[in-house]
Amino acid sequence: MKILITGGAGYIGSHAVYKACSDGHDVVIVDNFLRGFRECIETLSSTFPGKITFYNADLRKKEEIEKVFEKEKIDAVLHFAALCSVNESMEDPYFYFENNTYGTANLLDVMKKYDVRNIVFSSTCATYGPKERSDNIYDYSINELNIQLPESPYGESKLLSEKEIFWFNKLFGINYTILRYFNVCGAQENGIVGDSKRPSLLLMQNAVRGALGIEPFKLTYSEVDTPDGSPIRDYVNVEDLIDAHFLALDKMIRQKTSGIYNVGTGKGSSVLEIVNKVMEITGTKFDISKGEARKGEAKALYSNTEKIVNELGWKPARSIEDSVKSLVKWYTNRPNGWKE
Ligand SMILES: NC(=O)c1ccc[n+]([C@@H]2O[C@H](COP(=O)([O-])OP(=O)(O)OC[C@H]3O[C@@H](n4cnc5c(N)ncnc54)[C@H](O)[C@@H]3O)[C@@H](O)[C@H]2O)c1
Repeated sequence: MKILITGGAGYIGSHAVYKACSDGHDVVIVDNFLRGFRECIETLSSTFPGKITFYNADLRKKEEIEKVFEKEKIDAVLHFAALCSVNESMEDPYFYFENNTYGTANLLDVMKKYDVRNIVFSSTCATYGPKERSDNIYDYSINELNIQLPESPYGESKLLSEKEIFWFNKLFGINYTILRYFNVCGAQENGIVGDSKRPSLLLMQNAVRGALGIEPFKLTYSEVDTPDGSPIRDYVNVEDLIDAHFLALDKMIRQKTSGIYNVGTGKGSSVLEIVNKVMEITGTKFDISKGEARKGEAKALYSNTEKIVNELGWKPARSIEDSVKSLVKWYTNRPNGWKE
């Protein structure tokens, strides 16, 4: 197949490119380097010679996307490209609606024009509303029917994108799989691609950087009502997450169906539990100081995995320890991530 991967120069998209090429697909990447990296594209292109065609194109500019579809006979789209900082979206909501929601509408319209009928969309647990307060802290699992009431413009921009996708399905028969990711962690197991966000936003990534002495680690949560006072999240390994995309793509194309799935492990870990785990696995006791607290974050979010397990046959195969070890490899190879 020839698969278009939007956001392929970013963290999760680059892992999708790696997997697609490893499985023998041809890949077309669209990225405008808003948050992605040229060195990532160069590394992937030299790892998989002849398999990747890259376009520096912006989803906000429909004519740029049209040119890609004009040149390439695309069979399916994996749509990762987006801005994804909750905090940034609280400061600049317009940027998020323009880039994520309008960008997705452009992509869908071009897919319609060129009769490309299959899309896997990277959505997020940030589209869900807060779970009702419960006495039992372990009663915070979220299934796909949980009410969607985002607590940030980021979550809203992704929820609106989901709605656009439903309309393009209903009106023009574009099949979709919406994957609502929980917290993504880890890197490709050989350390070839990984996360390079600047500033780095993801807890486990930051804790490993702290453990390797790359930069001081800071806690950025606000106190919440959990046993240790830190928020509980569900940490899913990036390669497991990408496996879910390819299972979804296969089912969608074979059965011509659409679906929505959470992608998480079904197990919550608190921020402090993750930090302690990183210390234990790396054998390093690094300093922890408090940084600026994030805004718009919920107290506990973790996935109910029943649907994805039953319908896609997906199960997380990698442990938190595997994720930490893959990050140690990635940051040992590239302490500062991609150069540019
Ligand atoms: N990282 C997580 O924990 C997480 C959790 C839930 C959902 N997601 C979703 O997964 C997707 C990928 O996240 P990530 O962590 O890899 O982010 P990332 O910032 O590393 O990568 C996003 C990529 O998209 C590109 N991009 C952004 N806007 C673009 C545009 N208008 N045109 C072309 N390219 C554009 C960026 O340059 C970047 O390379 C996003 O859609 C995000 O909402 C991520």
